[in-house]
Amino acid sequence: MKKTFLAIISGLCCIFLFSGMAYATSKHPAKNDTLTLVYTGNLDGELEPCGCSLEGDFGGIRRQATMIDRLRKKKPHLVLISSGGFLRSESIHDRLTGEYILKGINALKYDAIGVQWADLAYGMNFIKNDNLSWVVSNWNDASFEEARRITRHGRTIAFFNWIDPRESPQRQMQASKTMTAESDDSTALLQALQHAKQEGTTTVLATTLKLEDAQQRFPLEHIDILLVRSAYEKYAEPRKVKNTLVLQPGSRGMRMAELDVVLDSSGAITSWQHRIIPLSKTIPDAKRLVTWYKQYNARVKQDYEASVQFAKAAQSGASPYAGEQICASCHTTEHKIWRASRHGHAYDTLRRVNKAFDPNCIVCHTVGFNKPGGFIDNDTTSHLSNVQCESCHGAAQAHATSGGAQSVANADWPREKMCAQCHTQAHSPSFKVDAYWPKIQHKREAK
Ligand code: HEC
Ligand code: HEC
Ligand code: HEC
Ligand code: HEC
Repeated sequence: MKKTFLAIISGLCCIFLFSGMAYATSKHPAKNDTLTLVYTGNLDGELEPCGCSLEGDFGGIRRQATMIDRLRKKKPHLVLISSGGFLRSESIHDRLTGEYILKGINALKYDAIGVQWADLAYGMNFIKNDNLSWVVSNWNDASFEEARRITRHGRTIAFFNWIDPRESPQRQMQASKTMTAESDDSTALLQALQHAKQEGTTTVLATTLKLEDAQQRFPLEHIDILLVRSAYEKYAEPRKVKNTLVLQPGSRGMRMAELDVVLDSSGAITSWQHRIIPLSKTIPDAKRLVTWYKQYNARVKQDYEASVQFAKAAQSGASPYAGEQICASCHTTEHKIWRASRHGHAYDTLRRVNKAFDPNCIVCHTVGFNKPGGFIDNDTTSHLSNVQCESCHGAAQAHATSGGAQSVANADWPREKMCAQCHTQAHSPSFKVDAYWPKIQHKREAK
């Protein structure tokens, strides 16, 4: 079969051979045997780090831009790819953030990006507004490129992306066999990979499958680089599985990774060097994204102000929350301890970092935000700013007015449950209740 194939294209080959020779003897730089790949994956909607903890203060598109600009200065021909997963759709604010993420990554000039289901949460047109190089190799129509070929110094990388049909939200919702755009059939992709290898191209396949599943689905022999499902914030060290180099990008955009590869004439990798680049606070924000970031914040603020107007209008009747000053009248000692704690200044902290208008932040730095009678803004509900008694103990207006006879709303909550509302892995990575509680303790431990 291979012979037939060779026979068919032999005519073409002569022409290519000839032009290839002319190329080699001309003054053009020779075909390079090295390539630099910078890769990312699963930004997961994190336009910027929240800055809640030093350990978690990594990433953000502005730092990514700075780092990519620096790398390109050293190696102008580097290839920048992503396995996709830029967007998130968990809260109503994620759409606006997503809009700006796409604008932001547009400025980074990716050579190829895989589409993940998360990127399609707001529909196809949402991600097509910007001029990004999205790739899906198993899509039934021509909405996406099936592969993207990137050429540097006579070397070609072919980037493919397999979107896992089993993860399709449509299929999961309506277990029926409706028409879907993605295809289960991997034959075409396998042929394309094989064909690319015959041309001496270096092949890259991105997917959200885990290595084991990918191995089952695709024989790895035609894949030089496999980008597998990103599962953690940290990048994994590359692994060589037979001739395939397996990469696993870290999530949330906290880091990037640079891969230098040495290639043989068939485009296969003979050796490689890998470097993980943490995007810590020491990386300055890219100046070229100042306007973009200002516009983003202006839009967030505008949305918040609109929702405040709405909440104010909708607010009716008494609030179930009393506010810390009411509690102070009966619980003087507890109040003093609380006032001195960082919880007592959590809203001021947001003002300090100029984020007191961002609903994504306010929710954990005030009392009852987005709940009936809870914090709206600092004009209407200043008595509910900061992390207060009722952030942990639950609404306690009834408790206060009954002189303590009625218990507080969260009376039966264990400590851990209270803290877990806000001390999440993302915002408080080193949280341990036994280490944190003593710092805010306001109960004599009777043992
Ligand atoms: C008018 C006085 C008064 C006010 C105001 C008051 N409490 Fe209490 N609180 C009490 C009394 C009395 C107890 C019961 C103490 C006991 O049984 O040992 C109590 C107990 C508690 C307890 C222990 C758990 C429970 O439910 O029994 C918590 C927590 C608590 N209060 C929180 C609050 C918070 C939060 C506020 C402010 C929103 C508040 N209290 C306002 C009088 C008050
Ligand atoms: C409503 C959200 C919220 C809840 C609930 C909450 N926290 Fe916090 N916590 C915060 C925020 C926000 C900060 C940072 C405040 C700042 O510095 O501005 C913080 C800071 C702290 C700090 C200071 C950290 C340090 O290193 O000094 C401690 C300690 C702490 N929390 C303990 C707890 C414990 C224990 C619980 C559960 C009993 C809890 N928190 C529940 C939001 C919360
Ligand atoms: C899920 C709850 C949550 C959300 C959402 C949240 N924070 Fe926090 N934030 C915390 C907690 C908890 C801490 C305390 C972390 C610790 O010390 O372990 C904190 C601490 C902080 C600190 C204090 C850092 C320091 O060490 O001085 C800043 C600043 C901050 N947050 C800003 C933000 C901003 C800006 C946003 C929105 C982009 C945000 N937070 C969203 C829970 C949250
Ligand atoms: C960060 C969460 C958090 C905040 C904020 C907080 N508490 Fe507590 N509070 C707790 C926890 C946890 C306990 C202990 C419950 C237990 O026994 O495990 C507690 C215990 C109490 C008790 C019972 C004390 C006793 O000796 O039985 C009272 C009363 C109380 N808190 C009142 C307040 C008041 C008033 C405020 C605000 C001024 C406040 N708390 C702020 C988490 C919090």
